[in-house]
Amino acid sequence: MQRFKNKIALITGGTNGMGFATAQQFIQEGGKVIITGRSETTVKNALSNLGENASGIVSDAGNMKDLMRLQEEVKKHAEQIDVLFVNAGYGRFAPIEHVDENHFDELFNLLAKGPYFTVQQIVPLMKTGSSVIFNTSIATDIAMHSFSVYSAAKSAVQSFIKTFALELTEKGIRVNGISPGHIKTNIFNNTGLSAEQIEHAVQDIISTIPLKRQGEPSEIANAVLFLASDEASYIHGAEIKVDAGISVIR
Ligand SMILES: NC(=O)c1ccc[n+]([C@@H]2O[C@H](COP(=O)([O-])OP(=O)(O)OC[C@H]3O[C@@H](n4cnc5c(N)ncnc54)[C@H](OP(=O)(O)O)[C@@H]3O)[C@@H](O)[C@H]2O)c1
Repeated sequence: MQRFKNKIALITGGTNGMGFATAQQFIQEGGKVIITGRSETTVKNALSNLGENASGIVSDAGNMKDLMRLQEEVKKHAEQIDVLFVNAGYGRFAPIEHVDENHFDELFNLLAKGPYFTVQQIVPLMKTGSSVIFNTSIATDIAMHSFSVYSAAKSAVQSFIKTFALELTEKGIRVNGISPGHIKTNIFNNTGLSAEQIEHAVQDIISTIPLKRQGEPSEIANAVLFLASDEASYIHGAEIKVDAGISVIR
């Protein structure tokens, strides 16, 4: 399939995990991508794997200076963006008594403020028929221990889906989200847990997943590409759960 021939996607956090998988599939289906990441090294490494139809920008999604430069940086690579996947992020997890102001601000800057101003910056480059897709989380549906700040920040993004869908309707831009369950990515590597603790946590998590396995990043990319495609032309202001049923099956 070549659903994205002549289309350009901007994927924040496209160096790894779900963002990288989405970039790979978008290119396979005929499109070009611009990815962002936190460092020269991660961006260069991803670009060397994605090939000639990808370009990259080092931009910290939690840093207001970088966010305010994003439109100018993107314009160096493309005049128009057809698909914006607002995906960059990581988690930090702690029970309420151990959360400090830094933890709170770091996650809200990266996961709520970042997505907000990313869209504000990029919408002027988007025309009728284009599409914004946010990455939220099932942590907005289920109470998860130590996730209070992460879940609240992702819930803010859920709210953006609805208001932005309303505000961008007149521009002909569809706005939707995907809500991933437990996906096999590097997300735990930013948490400060040891490899052994991560393995333990993953095994605990798997026992709670109805399909008894973590999702693959490509399974999220499939849903993102569907929402970005013409097949989803009547889907607007929605959030698709890609979570093996964990948010509804107990
Ligand atoms: N994995 C899950 O189970 C899960 C479930 C629900 C939702 N999510 C959400 O899915 C999104 C993608 O995460 P993932 O699981 O695919 O993790 P991942 O494999 O760790 O990838 C995270 C991506 O985000 C980028 N990133 C992180 N912090 C950034 C920052 N400050 N500025 C710019 N880029 C940044 C990383 O870039 P670098 O390589 O440069 O660091 C990387 O490209 C996140 O928003 C996460 O909250 C994950």
